[in-house]
Amino acid sequence: MTSPRNVVIGVTGGIAAYKACHLVRDFKEAGDSVRVVPTENALQFVGAATFEALSGNPVDTGVFTRVDSVQHVRIGQEADLIIVAPATADIIARIAAGRADDLLTSTILVATCPVVLAPAMHTEMWVNPATQANVATLRQRGMTVLEPADGRLTGKDSGPGRMLEPGQIAELARTVAEVGAIGRGLEGKRVLISAGGTQENIDPVRFIGNRSSGRQGFALAEIAAQRGAEVTVVAGDINELYTPAGAEIVRVRSTRELEEEMNARAAGADIIVMAAAVSDFRPRTEAPSKMKKGADTEALARIELVENPDVLHGLVDKRRAGETDAVIVGFAAETDNPLEYGKEKLARKGADMLMVNSVAGGAVFGQARNSGWLVGSDGTVTEIADGPKQVVAAQIWDAIEDFER
Ligand code: CTP
Repeated sequence: MTSPRNVVIGVTGGIAAYKACHLVRDFKEAGDSVRVVPTENALQFVGAATFEALSGNPVDTGVFTRVDSVQHVRIGQEADLIIVAPATADIIARIAAGRADDLLTSTILVATCPVVLAPAMHTEMWVNPATQANVATLRQRGMTVLEPADGRLTGKDSGPGRMLEPGQIAELARTVAEVGAIGRGLEGKRVLISAGGTQENIDPVRFIGNRSSGRQGFALAEIAAQRGAEVTVVAGDINELYTPAGAEIVRVRSTRELEEEMNARAAGADIIVMAAAVSDFRPRTEAPSKMKKGADTEALARIELVENPDVLHGLVDKRRAGETDAVIVGFAAETDNPLEYGKEKLARKGADMLMVNSVAGGAVFGQARNSGWLVGSDGTVTEIADGPKQVVAAQIWDAIEDFER
């Protein structure tokens, strides 16, 4: 479901409560109606006035205010999406136990819409078997409990349990609103993704490269990490605000660097996705100092190019040689006859699947949305409906998970 929606933002008693203000603003600016339902403890961190002003709606914590409107059931019944951010260990336990002892837990117990929890707690609490069992219970019931980030916690501590940034939570929650739940279908899988564009130096200030924001690759990494995979992204030039939480990022610049890093990790991967826009050619020589107009005009006008290795093809060759048994997925950006060229490219590259985009008229590059077809070596063609790149990523992972089985 897309905006405008009835969004309930539950806020519980953790220091990350202040970040919930940004989340409220994010949904309000998208045109959604937002109702903030904090716990009593949340109001120790952020005052009700702040949430009322940001949401434009009243804020209550208990079930005995505005009783005439029966809001302890009404808010949950009318919600299209519920997000709890931050979600403490305590609220996770109370939801798992089916408690309804305040307005937030009552709302969640009544609701049938998608529910997204963004945990925030100290590492000891997050890894505690009690919390992990509660999280597993909630996931089994179809709720999305996001994997927290590994980073700075309250005080001097650092580790897993840091709440994701509000922008990341908002994007993931919007994805959940469209697909129902993020899912956990990649638990235990090792996923290797290339993203962004590679750049080939002409001299210390000039380069040739391929256009790519890296957004689709990062969205694939983000969704894979949330589905439980161990994710490594080999990233070229990237133009994205957030790095995907829970993924290891290896930075590269040129195609040959990208090839080296991908090859080094291929043996340990279960699934490889080549989403990078790889520069097919590089200058035969790289000038050690800046080439100057005048003295070097002739040379600049006639830069000689040599072909770069085809990384995807090389990975397929490695599999043929028994060096990896990963499922290998490529991308193809085409301006003309996308489906026809895509099928032909899949056969030529020998990959298992190819996500074919039409990039005619500047579509896709740097945009938040994408669409296309996922063609499989088994002859399947899955149409990927136009949607935000994370929703597209979820559809791509669904198809890869099916292919794997
Ligand atoms: N790719 C690669 N190495 C290259 C070129 C492309 O690994 N040197 C990968 C891309 O990451 C992508 C797929 O191959 O997954 C298809 O990329 P694309 O640029 O569409 O294909 P090309 O082989 O370059 O074909 P063409 O430019 O002729 O369309």
